[in-house]
Amino acid sequence: MKSFIEKVDFFAGNDPEKLAAEYGTPLYVYNEDIIRQSMRTLKNIITKYPYTANFSMKANSNLTILKMALEEGLNADAMSEGEMRLLFKAGFPAERIFFVPNNVAVDELKFAVDNKIMVSLDSIDQLELFGKNFPGSECAVRLNPGVGAGHHEKVVTAGKNTKFAITDDQIDNIFEIAKKYDLKVVGINQHVGSLFMDPEPFLQAVKNLLHMAEKFDNLKFIDFGGGYGVPYHKVSEDEQPFDFESFTKKLELILDDFVKEAGYTPLFKTEPGRYTTCEGGVLLGRVHAVKTNADKKFAGTDIGMNILARPTLYGSWHDVEVLRDGKPVYEGDREVVTVTGNICESGDIIAKERDIPVIKTGDLVCVLDSGSYGYAMASNYNQRLRPAEVMIMADGSCKLIRRKDTYEDLLRGFDI
Ligand code: LLP
Repeated sequence: MKSFIEKVDFFAGNDPEKLAAEYGTPLYVYNEDIIRQSMRTLKNIITKYPYTANFSMKANSNLTILKMALEEGLNADAMSEGEMRLLFKAGFPAERIFFVPNNVAVDELKFAVDNKIMVSLDSIDQLELFGKNFPGSECAVRLNPGVGAGHHEKVVTAGKNTKFAITDDQIDNIFEIAKKYDLKVVGINQHVGSLFMDPEPFLQAVKNLLHMAEKFDNLKFIDFGGGYGVPYHKVSEDEQPFDFESFTKKLELILDDFVKEAGYTPLFKTEPGRYTTCEGGVLLGRVHAVKTNADKKFAGTDIGMNILARPTLYGSWHDVEVLRDGKPVYEGDREVVTVTGNICESGDIIAKERDIPVIKTGDLVCVLDSGSYGYAMASNYNQRLRPAEVMIMADGSCKLIRRKDTYEDLLRGFDI
């Protein structure tokens, strides 16, 4: 077993102990090179046809990262008015934003329409609401391809068991409403779910969506959604990355058939969130107490479930490295330890019963693959402060890209 952070030189010469001393722990640390490399991979998934990748910013909404996505030529999708506002702040023009909401009031739709952002509606009711308020507009619809995929049932967003999208049997209703309000349905989109390493369900969903596309007149774009996985078991099991090369070959064959049959070439899109920033982010935390309770060993850190919610929420696995004096420890004695946080719940666990190098009070732990759905899902539960985020820049310098919360932040919003 090797150290990932050493293998990729994650800190690029910066001492994690110094970062911890300067910015405090817990601390999200990103690596610009790794993130930009992931963005470039995504930008080039399809080269044979017109194609754009929308960064799904719900995975990581840090402004510095959004600006990098813009520079790397990615477009973006937004789920809420807040996300659209942040994308504007980062410099995205309206035509590079795609609003894909779920169950919103008319004011959010109006914000998009007023700002000339393309909207996708994901139910017949929402399409009706859109049509009533913005007759004569262009829009897209989100369809359910009947196949879902994902690392947990909570993140599967297509198939039979989900609140999202419009099913095949309701396509005629789409056309009725479009006619009633003179809407032009210029695009369709889907999202099967989050985190697949096996591309087959996704490819099947692509086929199904393209089959549904045949019912529409010359679409301007067809968006296949996100979900590309990253190897969360890279250290513990040497898990290999998603194989984009073979994926692209298979995908392009499917697109070839569609273009031939349909007689036109739309703009194809995908919508990756996780893949963009996941491996380019780690989370540093300090071990404040090591104890044995009823034969079970616990390492208590300052990484609570409010800082990284994924393990508690989905039982997600993140590889954990132990750092001592700023260096990864990966040789010597090992033991089975449960790494926990400092939140007042027994489910406040970062890594359960892990076989890792013997851990001591005062060590740092480095939680890998934390760049996506990490800070983005952090909260002030137990009135803890959300941490700072820093970026190891391409030139090796370290930049603060979001300050830690302050205690004043906790009081904002109260009329006192
Ligand atoms: N497009 C839409 C419409 C989505 O709902 C999502 C994710 C994406 C794109 C991006 O999917 P990705 O490439 O990141 O898999 N919090 C969960 C993941 C929730 C994903 C929600 N939707 C987690 O931490 O695993």
